[in-house]
Amino acid sequence: MTSNRKDDHVNEAAKQFDRQENGLDQIRFVHHSLSHKDIEAIDTQTQILGHKLRLPFYINAMTGGSEWTKQVNKQLAMVAKETGLMMAPGSISAALKDPNVADSFKIVREVNPDGFVLANLGANHGLENAKRAVDLIQANAFQIHLNIPQEIVMPEGDRHFSEFLDHVDEIVNGLDVPVMVKEVGFGMSQESLALLYDIGVKTVDISGYGGTNFATIENSRRPGKNYAFMEDWGQSTAISLLESLTYQDCLDIVASGGIKNPLHMVKALALGAKAVAMSGEFLRQILYLGVDQAIEQVAEWEEQIKLLMLMLDASQIADLQNTDLVISPELYNWTQQRHID
Ligand code: FNR
Repeated sequence: MTSNRKDDHVNEAAKQFDRQENGLDQIRFVHHSLSHKDIEAIDTQTQILGHKLRLPFYINAMTGGSEWTKQVNKQLAMVAKETGLMMAPGSISAALKDPNVADSFKIVREVNPDGFVLANLGANHGLENAKRAVDLIQANAFQIHLNIPQEIVMPEGDRHFSEFLDHVDEIVNGLDVPVMVKEVGFGMSQESLALLYDIGVKTVDISGYGGTNFATIENSRRPGKNYAFMEDWGQSTAISLLESLTYQDCLDIVASGGIKNPLHMVKALALGAKAVAMSGEFLRQILYLGVDQAIEQVAEWEEQIKLLMLMLDASQIADLQNTDLVISPELYNWTQQRHID
C-alpha cells in the first residue's frame, strides 16, 4: 500500500510541473538603470538551521518508501552531493512502520555521507519518532510538516489534529538537532507563525500554494471521491511571504511552493526569505533530464542569481530586502484586509 501511495504521489506531482500560480508574478522589481557593483562582489551565501548554505536554495522534502522512489532519492542525493545543496528526503513515516523500506531513505546518506540532510515527519508524530527518523539517516536537522488540507481531502486521512502543536512543541524543544516546521504547499498565515514562534520554533518554510498541489494529487488518486472544491485552498507563496513579514525579525523564513527559476528565488528572498526550496522542479529535473543535467542546472541558476543580484545592486542575499518592489492590486488588497504594513 505504502509503496503504491508514494509512487502515485510522484506520478501525480509530475502532472503539475507546469503550475505557476505562486503569486510571485504579481510582484515586480522596479528596474533601476545603474548598479554600484561588479560581479566579483556578489555573494550568494545564506544561513539557516545554524548551517551556512553556499547557494540560497535546496532540495525540499519529497519521497521514499518504495523501490522507484529509492532510485529518485538516490539521484536527488547525487545532485545534492555534487552541488553541496541541502536536501530533505520525504516523510520517513513509512520506514518507521515498515523497516523493509528504510533503505529508500538511508540511500540519501549513503550517497552523500558529508551532506547536510534533513529528516522529515508529519506533526502526527511525537518526539520519540522524530529521534528515530533523525537516527535512521543521521540527519543534521529535522523538518515537521503540517498538511491538514491534504489529510482532509483523503477519505482515510487523519481527522485528529488537536495534538499537532504539542508534538511540534516537544520536538522543537526536545530534539538535539535544529528543527524546521513546514507546510506542504498550502501556505501559512500570521496566526500560524505566531503559534509556532510562541512555542520556540525558529525556522519555518511557509510552503505556499501555486506549485505542487496535494489537494489535486489526492483527488486524482481517487476518481469519484470529489473534493475538487479544495484544489484552490490556501495562500500562495507570495501571500504567505507577505503574511510572514511581521515575524521575519524573530523567525527564519524559508520560501517554497512553485519556485521554478532564479527570478522566483530572488523575489522570494527580496520578500524576506532566508532561503528558498524546491520539490517539483527538482523532481522534474531528475525524471526528465537526469542527474548530470540537474547538476548543470544548479550551476546555471547560481550564475543567474548572481546576475539578478548584480542588476538589483545587492551584494549579499540580505541586501535583496532593500530592493524596490511593487505588488499587484490583488496582493495589496490582501495586505490591507490582513493589516500587513
Ligand atoms: C512533497 N512534499 C512533501 N513535504 C513534506 O514535508 N513531506 C513529504 O513527505 C512530502 N512529500 C512530497 C512528495 C512529492 C512527490 C512532492 C512533489 C512534494 C511537499 C514539498 O516538500 C513542498 O512543500 C511542496 O511540494 C511545494 O513545493 P513545490 O513542489 O511546488 O516546489
